[in-house]
Amino acid sequence: MSALRAEGLYKIFGRRPREVVRHLEEGAPLEAVKERFGATCAVIDANFEVAPGEIFVVMGLSGSGKSTLIRMLNGLLEPTDGHVYVGDSDVAALSSGALRSLRRDRMSMVFQHFALLPHRTVLDNAAYALRVRGVDKATRYEKAEAALAMVGLDGWGDKLPSQLSGGMKQRVGLARALAAETEIMLMDEAFSALDPLIRREMQDQLLRLQSTLNKTIIFITHDLNEAMRLGDRIAMMRAGRIVQVGTAEEILQDPANDYVAQFVQDVDRTRVLTASSVMEPARSVVIDTGGPRAALRTMREHQSQAAYVVSREQELRGVIRDEAAQRAVKQQTTTLDSVLDKPATVSASTLLADVFAPSAESPLPVAVVDDDEHLLGVIPRATLLTAMATLATDAPPEESPPPEGGPAAESSAAADDERPDVIVERREPGGSA
Ligand SMILES: Nc1ncnc2c1ncn2[C@@H]1O[C@H](COP(=O)(O)OP(=O)(O)O)[C@@H](O)[C@H]1O
Ligand SMILES: [Mg+2]
Repeated sequence: MSALRAEGLYKIFGRRPREVVRHLEEGAPLEAVKERFGATCAVIDANFEVAPGEIFVVMGLSGSGKSTLIRMLNGLLEPTDGHVYVGDSDVAALSSGALRSLRRDRMSMVFQHFALLPHRTVLDNAAYALRVRGVDKATRYEKAEAALAMVGLDGWGDKLPSQLSGGMKQRVGLARALAAETEIMLMDEAFSALDPLIRREMQDQLLRLQSTLNKTIIFITHDLNEAMRLGDRIAMMRAGRIVQVGTAEEILQDPANDYVAQFVQDVDRTRVLTASSVMEPARSVVIDTGGPRAALRTMREHQSQAAYVVSREQELRGVIRDEAAQRAVKQQTTTLDSVLDKPATVSASTLLADVFAPSAESPLPVAVVDDDEHLLGVIPRATLLTAMATLATDAPPEESPPPEGGPAAESSAAADDERPDVIVERREPGGSA
């Protein structure tokens, strides 16, 4: 079962919101409906499922409806239409008491501006959610201490938030969410206020924590690179609609429309695409129980200068070069062990950017192996270079930013993308009724 599910979710601000939904459902053009009703259609027909343990990123420019969406997920905002399911409970059908306990016990939230209590210590802040839940003091401090340690803040418990840097404040925000031990964590632009380097550290830390904690995380960002680094899957939002849901690789390789294609055109693909996307089947492969003669024969067949040597179970043992094999034959060596070299290896999920160095180490193709060292494929240097060249020329020619839709704020927000510390949250004129 999914951890969280949105079904036909709408949020319309303004007059006669349900009528607006009905018109949209009947296929009336958005612009006409907005004009006629003077409505802000913040979220339009959102449908998605988030699996337990997944980092699901909602990515979109400022004003595209991300915060409105996340507030409906935890019941802070009531949807104009549609449903949110947390596990199997329909959030809209919950009594206000049940809704409060859902927010308190099953979900925690990390905010962009930390939302720490200024006059409480770091420890108290980290323990806050547990206090609200009525957990006794000893237990909540113990859990808060543990959570602070997880985010690298052990020893900081008795400080006040004002004594901390921005990055450390957000670590407290993260610790508070972790101490709550909820299955779901909602993070709304949680790292957007941080300087780029700190922000990257926080991303790394989140990924590290997630590899052991396996929470269900909904992470909102307006930064495509952040989305691609963190997201198991990414929902691309534009002007209230989710226009594509997919892995970073899927979105890059197969954008759903021109908007997404233009959006991702400047992404450094070497930092998103992985070894598995360019590897080829290894042709010259021999079983380690065969001798140098067999290896030479295989190399000749494939006109290669080396062969990968694997066990019967396909576990990579090494690589043998043709000179070494010839020498072995002359010296009447019958086993391969003594003549094997160690090839450079990477895993299937290694980013292409990280394949360059191993590839430069040796003229032989880099071997791609799984966690158990099974040979999955190889990346010859020429293949790597060709892939890079293709990626570079694949990018569509320079064009103006996506024209349609939202306010002028959208395009300036795009320009601000690389400067996460200057986010200006904009409202549409007349939108904040
Ligand atoms: N309480 C509100 N009343 C009226 N309009 C709102 C309200 N909250 C958000 N909006 C509008 O809904 C749209 C989406 O806003 P928001 O969800 O905050 O986007 P994002 O988080 O992607 O920047 C914007 O046009 C915004 O002005
Ligand atoms: Mg927002």
